[in-house]
Amino acid sequence: RDTNQPPIARLQGVCDLLQDRVPHYDWVGFYFRNGDRPELKLGPYAGDPTDHTIIPFGKGICGQVALSNENFVVPDVGAQDNYIACSIHVKAEIVVPIFVDGENIGQIDIDSHTPDPFGPEDEKFLETICAEVSKIL
Ligand code: SME
Repeated sequence: RDTNQPPIARLQGVCDLLQDRVPHYDWVGFYFRNGDRPELKLGPYAGDPTDHTIIPFGKGICGQVALSNENFVVPDVGAQDNYIACSIHVKAEIVVPIFVDGENIGQIDIDSHTPDPFGPEDEKFLETICAEVSKIL
């Protein structure tokens, strides 16, 4: 790994790699708490552009994770009331929070075009990635 890269470039690399190498990861992005505002702001991502560059805390899967501090696995996005649709192709989603000094400062968000593709191994894998990411922020 190139430790000389600034954090944003390295996060972009993480998104590109995950989206490219994991078949059921179709959109991979980071959202971060937007300063002192109760909202998330889109960071680096890989996949189709999204209109949802700002997400208020509590809104959608991402906004709920900003408040719950817990992983959110959605096997079927069609069954969620509090969900923000980014693309008609998306069938499932997983969001895992990122903690710095115990504080929820953001999250990794992954969309899949495959129904119910995420298992406990994805949660573990993404928790490890989030723990690594928190070290370079
Ligand atoms: N589906 C998310 C919004 C972000 S897009 O997936 C990129 C949500 O419900 O919070």
